[in-house]
Amino acid sequence: MRNVTRDNITDTFLSYFGDDTNPRLREIMESLTRHLHEFARETNLTHAEWNQGLDILRQAGKITTPQRDEFVLLSDVLGLSSLVDMNHSSTSGTSSSVLGPFHISNAPPYPMGADLRGDYEGELILVQGKVCDPDGNPLGGATLDIWQTAPNGLYSSQDPEQDEYSFHALFTTGDDGLYQFTTVRPVSYTVPTDGPVGTLLNATGRHPWRPSHLHYIVKADGHMPLVTEVFPDDDPYLDEDTVFGVREDLVMSYKPQKAADFPASGLALSGKVDSDFSRVDFDIVLTPVST
Ligand code: BEZ
Ligand code: FE
Repeated sequence: MRNVTRDNITDTFLSYFGDDTNPRLREIMESLTRHLHEFARETNLTHAEWNQGLDILRQAGKITTPQRDEFVLLSDVLGLSSLVDMNHSSTSGTSSSVLGPFHISNAPPYPMGADLRGDYEGELILVQGKVCDPDGNPLGGATLDIWQTAPNGLYSSQDPEQDEYSFHALFTTGDDGLYQFTTVRPVSYTVPTDGPVGTLLNATGRHPWRPSHLHYIVKADGHMPLVTEVFPDDDPYLDEDTVFGVREDLVMSYKPQKAADFPASGLALSGKVDSDFSRVDFDIVLTPVST
């Protein structure tokens, strides 16, 4: 094409693909470019605005390290991570939600009923439920990789005061599929705001808060792994999660309980609880892998 115009540049781009381009790559690049070109035409984007956008990416590149990925955070606050997630979320099981950047591999295994609080003070919660298939059959041998913030709103990887694996734990269910542990109630926290994503949130009048949550990765043989989170129904940020992670079936009530009602056996804290606590009941349904 010798006379590229504002109107024919998209078709010109599409005509440049080689015949042996991978079909899926071609589909993705065609759609991405169509939308990008239309975005530039629709907004009548100026050089200065285009360069400001590129600057977000330049700054993201500079601040990104193996421990901190600003590009993923950008995708999170734009809602793109959640959209990708929902594209592949199962309809027969518990909803998935964003992984976030604070999961660490090789969480230490804990016996069922363990207490994750360490030396931390905070409202005690008892979290329990069943891992099962869509027919309600319990899944034995399922693993639950759990992580959360400490009461100061920081994950262990963000906080030099915490042990590497504080508030990270791996549980394995028995034949009954049940799981149970105690911990402190997680708190609402902000996503990192010291990079270009923080600047963008600020410039668009958005806050950086996420509702408090417990993260789960649940796996069982023959079933699709599930990355999800559970939220309390009274969190002030539930309807405005800055990374769009909330789904109706992941919102649970934290039920207030008297100290005397703490289970007398089966938990590391049985017989040791003298303050009121809350109970979180969260069953997890995993979808069988289709054969
Ligand atoms: C998180 O829940 O840990 C998280 C998710 C997305 C961005 C930042 C944090
Ligand atoms: Fe989180």
